[in-house]
Amino acid sequence: MISGYLCRVKLYTDWTHFYRLFTPPEDYAAEAAAYRAGFEAAAPSAKTLLELGAGAGHNAVHLKGAYTCTLTDLSSAMLDLSRELNPECEHLVGDMRTLRLGRAFDLVFVHDAVMYMLSEAELAQAIATAFAHTAPGGAAIFAPDCFAEDFREETLTWESGDAERQLRCTEWAWDPDPSDTRFAVEYAVLLREAGEVQMFHEHQENGVFPSSTWRRLLEQAGYSVETLERPLDDGERDRVWLCRRRA
Ligand SMILES: C[S@@+](CC[C@H](N)C(=O)[O-])C[C@H]1O[C@@H](n2cnc3c(N)ncnc32)[C@H](O)[C@@H]1O
Repeated sequence: MISGYLCRVKLYTDWTHFYRLFTPPEDYAAEAAAYRAGFEAAAPSAKTLLELGAGAGHNAVHLKGAYTCTLTDLSSAMLDLSRELNPECEHLVGDMRTLRLGRAFDLVFVHDAVMYMLSEAELAQAIATAFAHTAPGGAAIFAPDCFAEDFREETLTWESGDAERQLRCTEWAWDPDPSDTRFAVEYAVLLREAGEVQMFHEHQENGVFPSSTWRRLLEQAGYSVETLERPLDDGERDRVWLCRRRA
């Protein structure tokens, strides 16, 4: 069951019918290859992977050939999308702040869903969940969209479509209060289907933290931490966290 702020995020509940157009699985291939290379370097004999906040499974579709994947998310509607794409994977509803499966995995992966950790306390909870599920000798990757020192107000526009539907989207990230750990993202989506155009607007809250906060929380949890370069859609590159479990 989705609770609190996220029960109102329509993109992951009421509007999942256009999610695949919004962010197509093929767009994740290059970054997923970077995550796989990082995992192979950190834990070469790894076989099992747990993803926290796996959403529609758009990274998992590129990782499941290498690992047996267990995919978790707060939203059962998102996991339904992932089941269509990744029927061979285990799917479980769970909140990354509190999930405890009682078993460990060689690898734990936390992608952009970690952006929904709105306070340092919530971020520490998600990291503790990842650590609790990382087997000795295992590794974890945390891949937030940005760090506080890099945050800039920015607007992205893009279009996608298939034989039946066309989607146009504007994503506008802005910070109403730079003194806190949140920023706002406005999504404006136009969806054309059977000659009719519908408009969707959603305001979301994301969390953003200095990389120094991230490093401190990861090390306090019990990880040795390094960074891993990944490619971005616009041809740029940034860095995410590659963590090995200490002892
Ligand atoms: C941008 S989507 C993830 C997309 C994903 N990277 C993919 O491959 O499809 C963000 C996801 O985070 C999930 N989420 C947000 N807060 C969460 C939490 N506390 N625990 C688990 N999942 C969460 C949402 O339900 C949503 O599916």
